Amino acid sequence: QATTEVDLSKIEAGQGVTVFFRKQPLFVRNLTPVEIAAADKVDVKTLRDPETLAQRTRGQKNWLVTMGVCTHLGCVPQGIVSGESRGEFGGYFCPCHGSQYDTAARIRKGPAPKNLMVPDYTFTSATTISVG
Ligand code: FES
Repeated sequence: QATTEVDLSKIEAGQGVTVFFRKQPLFVRNLTPVEIAAADKVDVKTLRDPETLAQRTRGQKNWLVTMGVCTHLGCVPQGIVSGESRGEFGGYFCPCHGSQYDTAARIRKGPAPKNLMVPDYTFTSATTISVG
């Protein structure tokens, strides 16, 4: 199947879900205002893979849609399931070799070279995205 539809209507602020897209985990997270502010206050010039939160979303900064695949060696990071460690930067933490991602899923510490990948997606309604 080429595209995956995700219903956003039941994902509350501060929560996220994992769905499968082309057999890989895809993280969809509804960022809180505090998480958005944390991402926005970072000077992108200091980042290993410089991107703003706005560049990584589709004009709706609270919806962070990324692959759940660490860009180091492909483990599934923790932090999408409530109660899991989100690491030092409040986003995702990869337990395999300790990569830490921030609230925009940008790599901040550890061996991963790139931010969690943002797939192609579009909003097909106010509460639905189509990925792929
Ligand atoms: Fe994630 Fe190595 S696979 S840190």
